Amino acid sequence: MAAYEFVDHIYDVVVVGAGGSGLRATLGMAEQGLKTACVTKVFPTRSHTVAAQGGIAASLGNMGPDHWQWHMYDTVKGSDWLGDTDAMEYLARSAPAAVYELEHYGVPFSRTEDGRIYQRPFGGHTTEFGEGPPVQRTCAAADRTGHAILHTLYGQSLKHNAEFFIEYFATDLIMAEDGSCQGLLAWKLDDGTLHRFNAKMVVLATGGYGRAYFSATSAHTCTGDGGGMVARQGLPLQDMEFVQFHPTGIYGAGCLITEGARGEGGYLTNSEGERFMERYAPTYKDLASRDVVSRCMTIEIREGRGVGPQKDHIHLNLNHLPPEALHERLPGISESAKIFAGVDVTKAPIPVLPTVHYNMGGVPTNYWGEVLDPTEDDPDRICPGLMAVGEAGCASVHGANRLGSNSLIDLVVFGRAAAIKAGRVVAPRAPNPPLNPASVDAAVARFDALRHADGGTPTAELRLEMQKTMQADAAVFRTDKTLAEGVEKMRAIAAKLGDLRVTDRSMIWNSDLMETLELTNLMPNALATIVSAEARKESRGAHAQEDHPNRDDKTWRKHTLSRVADDGAVTLAYRPVHLDPLTEESEGGIALAKIAPKARVY
Ligand code: FUM
Repeated sequence: MAAYEFVDHIYDVVVVGAGGSGLRATLGMAEQGLKTACVTKVFPTRSHTVAAQGGIAASLGNMGPDHWQWHMYDTVKGSDWLGDTDAMEYLARSAPAAVYELEHYGVPFSRTEDGRIYQRPFGGHTTEFGEGPPVQRTCAAADRTGHAILHTLYGQSLKHNAEFFIEYFATDLIMAEDGSCQGLLAWKLDDGTLHRFNAKMVVLATGGYGRAYFSATSAHTCTGDGGGMVARQGLPLQDMEFVQFHPTGIYGAGCLITEGARGEGGYLTNSEGERFMERYAPTYKDLASRDVVSRCMTIEIREGRGVGPQKDHIHLNLNHLPPEALHERLPGISESAKIFAGVDVTKAPIPVLPTVHYNMGGVPTNYWGEVLDPTEDDPDRICPGLMAVGEAGCASVHGANRLGSNSLIDLVVFGRAAAIKAGRVVAPRAPNPPLNPASVDAAVARFDALRHADGGTPTAELRLEMQKTMQADAAVFRTDKTLAEGVEKMRAIAAKLGDLRVTDRSMIWNSDLMETLELTNLMPNALATIVSAEARKESRGAHAQEDHPNRDDKTWRKHTLSRVADDGAVTLAYRPVHLDPLTEESEGGIALAKIAPKARVY
């Protein structure tokens, strides 16, 4: 092994990732006086949250009546009754305060005539516990809401003296002998130095793993780095079979066209010019939940009613909307449609296709963001020193399917919750115990082995095999056959990790090595996804299993835990869903009867 020198750092808290949840956690930690570092592989304002378009859900009631209980109900129903009830209550109750906090930090929200935060309709968000009309709950900054939030949170974090380690790639966690987390190893991309971060709390805010698939709205940086790091420590991932397809990725390019487009009055049509969602979801139509709309689009295409020469996509119509409304509310997607589809949205429909967008699964946590290492006796056992927030985590508020605009609110609510909890459990002046040398050595040895990998399989080739397999076999619709074949193919693909070839051995700006490290993170996420999906013999939320078309609450209302060994073997276990809310109805909470499972229709 090559000899490496280290730069050492000691912090109270190290946050990995500078998207919405990472920055909200960083800001919250720094505000309380905790010595806080944020380690990020890209410049903070280039994190994938910058691409979030349509908005952030909170029951402000600016456009009509709304209540946090309605928001909670919609989230429970959207999750297809797989979310943890306490976490979903925490999300919906905390959302208004978290959004007003963002407003006060300086997020430039769009405004109503009377100066309040503008809110638009989004799929699955309703009134009267799903009995009333759609609600305008999604707070928006035009169609660049993530961009606005990210820039504001970065500025606020700097104001509170959080320290940023930008273009540092976190390679592995460092764990103490007792299994608690102590810090991490990071590689500074521009000068090639290795850094040992010692922290009392590590917060993984590394985002999703959309790039395990061939076509995704996710940035190329969404490589499941947190999940990979966690899996290598023998900790489980949760509910990985639930992968969300956004109904409106631009055909071919995969770029997102916000659901806000349908919120503002856009609608989908097939080759017959039919507004087909009226047939499938008579009440909420194009504003049904995402998994429902994606499935309906896929059925239309399968049954020969797709548009285009190959009849393989669907039209999203906006050209009936006033050009000034498009300019004011949807400027970003008007530009994306022009650049990526050559379409002027004021004149022609946008060609769209369901595209991988979000991972409901991730590192299991409680609603404080503390990572869980469940046992049979204690399904809520905590792994000390480690938190996960945002798309990297699984609290679980989205269960089997996330509602649009519940992601941005998840980022800020749980980033904030992690900071609140850390303020209680991290002792700012106490000395940090020394890092476990065996754990540091293991992290460095893995890095060195990949740097010098001289097998026969180029990283890009293996990544493409994985992406194509996941796209084909863990798709919108799944069957026993496609999943079983997918598991076999993915096992063979993962085995080739041992035969990787890295051609660039340098330490500075080595994108070959960086992509290889990312592939070793994507792979356990992908394996956990397909193995968990193969095992779940029911349909629920985003997991549409054609051989098991019904939801089976008796057997399957439980979270999947998947542990991925270094050789790619995946071991499954299950843990119960939290059924109890945080507060009883008598204390201002929600009546359990209101959120009891029932058929999920829109
Ligand atoms: O459609 C969108 O604007 C995406 C929002 C989300 O995923 O929450």
